[in-house]
Amino acid sequence: MPERKSQSVQPGSVESDPSISVVVLDGGPYIVRGAPPLHIQTITRNAQGQSWSYTQGREFPIKDKTALCRCGHSRNKPYCDGTHAKVDVDLTETATFEPMLNGAEEIDGPRYALTDNEHYCAFARFCDNGERIWNEVRIPGEEHAQLAVHMAHHCPGGRLLVWDRTTGLPVEQPLPVSLSLIEDPGAQASGPLVLRGGIRVQSANGESYEIRNRQALCRCGASSNKPFCDGSHASIHFRDGLE
Ligand code: FES
Repeated sequence: MPERKSQSVQPGSVESDPSISVVVLDGGPYIVRGAPPLHIQTITRNAQGQSWSYTQGREFPIKDKTALCRCGHSRNKPYCDGTHAKVDVDLTETATFEPMLNGAEEIDGPRYALTDNEHYCAFARFCDNGERIWNEVRIPGEEHAQLAVHMAHHCPGGRLLVWDRTTGLPVEQPLPVSLSLIEDPGAQASGPLVLRGGIRVQSANGESYEIRNRQALCRCGASSNKPFCDGSHASIHFRDGLE
């Protein structure tokens, strides 16, 4: 049974070098502190047509204090060009500062438990493989257990976490620090800015969100859980024109 106490670092995550962070500006862009690498990552599908892995693409230069677009309208994506001040997009942050587990459902299986907070769904659909993760975690057998782990680990927004029921700890591998611009040909859309490796995200009000190994920030301007992605980029068919 996962613990749900309040804390600033999610269980199974490790904070990155604190010189690296992402700061949300009020009504404006993301400011990247430090110089983590930034690449395109394209979601690739398996023979069944389901999201299965990522292919790394073009790199974009990042320096300390680089501003990245979060309104979806810059003509110089992924960078901010100031267009947010001229367009009618509400960039107000609406996400909670509470630990993600506080709003998560728990599903128990024979070996693993799954926690799921759907507010952080980035609609990448890795969870749809096999019998879908909510069933796979409940079906006995190593093959099903490993498929559930694979799906959770590829979930870019960290909505899904798999827990070892023996140790009570998340089955989570600390990831190298990186920023990724997601491209999702299966949804005919560009997706969020994915942060891996425990990068701190600081709100415009100075408060930090819970530090997590996998986080997805909205860069289309349409999420109702800003600064996090809620999958809305797929319904509006957001395109960044970078591919
Ligand atoms: S990028 Fe996913 S909702 Fe905006």
